[in-house]
Amino acid sequence: MPESRCLQGIWSSPWIFIFAASGSAVGLGNIWKFPYVLGQNGGGAFLLVYCLCLLLVGLPVLMAEVALGRTVRSNPIDTVNDLSERHILHSGWVFVPWLAGVTGFLILTFYSVIAGWSLAYLDRAVSGEFVGITQEAAYRMFDTLLATPAEMLLWHTIFMALVILTVGQSVTRGLSAVVKILLPVLVVTLILLASYSMLIGNSAEALNFMFRWSWQDVSFDVILAAVGLALFSLSVGMGAMFAYGAYMSKRMSIARACTIVVGVDLLVAILAGLVIFPLVFSFNIDVEAGPSLTFVSLPIIFGNLLGGQFFAGVFFVLLVVAALTSAISMLELFVAWLHERFSMTRLKAAVFMGIAVWFVGIAVLLSFNHWDNKLLLGLNVFELLDSMTSLVLLPVGAILLSIMVAWFIPHSMLQNEMITKQANHFQWWYKTLKFISIPAMVVITLAGWIGG
Ligand code: PHE
Repeated sequence: MPESRCLQGIWSSPWIFIFAASGSAVGLGNIWKFPYVLGQNGGGAFLLVYCLCLLLVGLPVLMAEVALGRTVRSNPIDTVNDLSERHILHSGWVFVPWLAGVTGFLILTFYSVIAGWSLAYLDRAVSGEFVGITQEAAYRMFDTLLATPAEMLLWHTIFMALVILTVGQSVTRGLSAVVKILLPVLVVTLILLASYSMLIGNSAEALNFMFRWSWQDVSFDVILAAVGLALFSLSVGMGAMFAYGAYMSKRMSIARACTIVVGVDLLVAILAGLVIFPLVFSFNIDVEAGPSLTFVSLPIIFGNLLGGQFFAGVFFVLLVVAALTSAISMLELFVAWLHERFSMTRLKAAVFMGIAVWFVGIAVLLSFNHWDNKLLLGLNVFELLDSMTSLVLLPVGAILLSIMVAWFIPHSMLQNEMITKQANHFQWWYKTLKFISIPAMVVITLAGWIGG
């Protein structure tokens, strides 16, 4: 493995980009969100559509973001400004990176609260509260947490402080070293937990639910949920990967690197499903329970496992670190911009943005208790932010970014960036983005909105 040294902000080894991008991709989206969205959307049919979305939408758009980031090597906002000064793009396109930054900001407001739940569960895990836990007690534990805003605020604050301190440093430093260890350990832990869960749980029903599908289960709602989750899970459509592309070495094939990131992301999500669903079916937990699904199932697994206290501790540490490596990429866009444009130190920019996120996060955590009233369309603050980002802002951001790259950035500029030894990757990617990903995203998003 080549040395993980950073050369003037550019990662010297191609693998470091893969680790950092996977660090952004793998997070609560895989372990918390994927199982519950799969549960709410009928299982197998959703998984199939999700895989297609990763391949035909997520991967091409991810490549577009990374390629653009690598071409200009600046933050997304200045990149578009720079291209418009060079008369390559109309200055109106600067709306796209702004939208991306706002999307990342809004996602972080609830992401941090959920990461706070993971910290709270880490605390409970190490103090042995899962040992011998019953299903009722697991539900009670989760409900009690939701009903205690002061505790949620504490963990939300701690998590945001970690995010601010990490983003305040340069992302090229340290991040990939952490992810290099985190990812393999996370995958091995999930494999062990999945094997155990299949052993003690109802594995037949879980496999049936996750992998059997029929056409009747595929609706536009399911497809929109799959596109939204694919973009969310790959951290695509809001400029995070763009920022990482800016640090990527020219020697790496973008197609290869991005394919690996998509593969890792899918693997972790499926493993998380295999951990959770056998238990869901053997303990008759409601598959459509929503955001509580992961947090109710996991204590039951650990509570019954020999050495469960230790494994639970390890698992929640991994989950928190995975959430952290995702969260920092949500703030990176504005922090890099404030730093490069206004010469603000990274730490100052991170504190400034982080406090704003923290503040909005308070409304999110209150939406689980005191403010559980429906604001709009029958949704509370958390539900509103979650669906607005996944079903509106991420798809719209991804569509606009893809249109900008595929139709407005000169072909030759991209071609120089994308072509490595295997020139055919370029045509394959360019045509898929132009003629499959963009039209599919537009049709699905509009149909999902109208149908929903
Ligand atoms: N992909 C991250 C996850 O799965 C979440 C994320 C979304 C990160 C958008 C950055 C941008 O947890």
